[in-house]
Amino acid sequence: MFSSIAILSGFVSVTLALNKAALPLPVTEIFQFPRGSYIEALQFRPNGKLLGNLLAPEASIYQFDVVEKSARKVVSIPSVNGLYGLTEGLPDQYYAAGGNFSLRASTRQAGSFGIFHVNLTSFDHTGLATVEEVSHFANATPNGLWTLNAKTGIILAADATNGVVYRVNVNTGVNEITVSDPLMKPPANASTYPSPNGIAVRDGYLYFTNTGAGTFGRVPITAAGVQTGPAQLVAVTAGGNPGGDDWTFDAAGNVFLGENPNNWVSVLPKGSKTPVIIAGGPNSTAVLGPNTVRFGVSKLDKSRGGLYIGTSGGLPQYRSGNFTNGGGVYRIDTAVLDL
Ligand SMILES: *[C@@H]1O[C@H](CO)[C@@H](O)[C@H](O)[C@H]1NC(C)=O
Ligand SMILES: *[C@@H]1O[C@H](CO)[C@@H](O)[C@H](O)[C@H]1NC(C)=O
Ligand SMILES: *[C@@H]1O[C@H](CO)[C@@H](O)[C@H](O)[C@H]1NC(C)=O
Ligand SMILES: *[C@@H]1O[C@H](CO)[C@@H](O)[C@H](O)[C@H]1NC(C)=O
Ligand SMILES: *[C@@H]1O[C@H](CO)[C@@H](O)[C@H](O)[C@H]1NC(C)=O
Repeated sequence: MFSSIAILSGFVSVTLALNKAALPLPVTEIFQFPRGSYIEALQFRPNGKLLGNLLAPEASIYQFDVVEKSARKVVSIPSVNGLYGLTEGLPDQYYAAGGNFSLRASTRQAGSFGIFHVNLTSFDHTGLATVEEVSHFANATPNGLWTLNAKTGIILAADATNGVVYRVNVNTGVNEITVSDPLMKPPANASTYPSPNGIAVRDGYLYFTNTGAGTFGRVPITAAGVQTGPAQLVAVTAGGNPGGDDWTFDAAGNVFLGENPNNWVSVLPKGSKTPVIIAGGPNSTAVLGPNTVRFGVSKLDKSRGGLYIGTSGGLPQYRSGNFTNGGGVYRIDTAVLDL
């Protein structure tokens, strides 16, 4: 009894701690692409430049200067037509997931997906990036990626179609399913949405969004990325099913979620089960199709809690073919939330 009251009061104080008077947070545009350009993943480089994967109109990686608000193409990967997740391995070397998609039909072509090594260690001197496919999948469609061990070359990859997570050895190319759970599976009524989607590992758990189900969950894993027990539901996303896309922890363990199927970014305060919309909203055009969020790395961004948002420009237009907005990169400052 005593412990349940203690937990409940802890939970209430967490919820009240969020400064709701600051909502919705103002959104600053960093870069806006033309119609039909779909940003899917973001990752900061050690030099403070921001990389972004495009899922459409072609599989390419851009670099953004978030201070100058400019963009430059780094590389295209012509063997596939779109990119999903992006993770850094050894310093300034990245792994991108890519394959053939039909956004119009909401399908992903089985057998076309791979993990590509993108080496930027010479890019700032030569302007050249090297790209090589390091692992290919017979049936999986890797979306969210997480580097489990950069030195040994082990990454985890969320298979958005089959409700499982693969462990990939980027040095040998071997990939194998190490996590499979009912909470990751696509639900029958929203099966075209990635399930699971974004992933991250913290304190012995692999956390994930299931966009089809509109849920955020976690599953216990070993240091080698192997599931040791059943997954647990942490929270239902702000709009329910479908909802949630790629996301990130802050240092304290609060969860910031892009919600591409809905036009908003939400936060799940640590210990809470109730996400709060912090930018955009049900009838807002402030952030259209936010897919992914990453915290800035500059001193200024650290002090203001600068959170960069990559957008698709709005998901429905890719299904209808009637394009009205391009994707882009935006920033919100989250320190004001007092989390
Ligand atoms: C992707 O689709 C294109 C066009 O159909 C095809 O030429 C290419 O081989 C496909 N890529 C893979 C990896 O299957
Ligand atoms: C990445 O490029 C650097 C040279 O810039 C090279 O030394 C390194 O071996 C490359 N990494 C891989 C895995 O090929
Ligand atoms: C799917 O079913 C669930 C549970 O009944 C419901 O909450 C949700 O709105 C449905 N989603 C769609 C996309 O129809
Ligand atoms: C959004 O717009 C719809 C349709 O106009 C309206 O019914 C709904 O109440 C609005 N929701 C919010 C949160 O303003
Ligand atoms: C395309 O979308 C715009 C904006 O929503 C709408 O005004 C227009 O009627 C649509 N056109 C077609 C052909 O559906």
